[in-house]
Amino acid sequence: MWTAAFMMHRAVSIVFLILIPLPFLALKKALYGARFWKRAILAANISLLVVLVSGLLIYPSFQEGKTWIVLILIAAMGGTLGMMSKGIKQYLAEAEPEGRQPLKKVTVAGIAYIIILVVILAFMTNWYAF
Ligand code: HEM
Repeated sequence: MWTAAFMMHRAVSIVFLILIPLPFLALKKALYGARFWKRAILAANISLLVVLVSGLLIYPSFQEGKTWIVLILIAAMGGTLGMMSKGIKQYLAEAEPEGRQPLKKVTVAGIAYIIILVVILAFMTNWYAF
């Protein structure tokens, strides 16, 4: 059971890497493949739930600060996913596809997402050192 949860935890965490190019692509005037990115954000949201559940299965301890730290980081990451998704939805809904405001939101949220992801992965690879 532990091994299965850990294997799933590690495998699913790869999904988060898909979104890394998005904030840089959103810097351009038009975002090609916006519908693909919307689906990728949905996949990342589902993955967030999977790593949360599998993470708590491999380390079911709420007594320690590190569990709470990672839970806060997960909530923050979920927030950036929500902001990116909203930005893309607004971008797709706009009559003028050159609208820069929604894409700016995607860039800012996307950079925050990458920073949080790097912190989480650094934290995960050194979990037992804390
Ligand atoms: C976005 C959220 C998360 C991501 C991307 C993530 C990713 C990873 C990755 C890639 C590893 C493997 C690291 C390595 O083998 O060097 C790992 C290990 C681990 N994760 Fe997570 N994780 C997340 C959330 C959580 C949560 C919520 C918990 C539970 C509180 C958790 C507990 C652990 C533990 C205990 C290990 C080490 C297992 C071991 O080596 O024995 N993770 N995580």
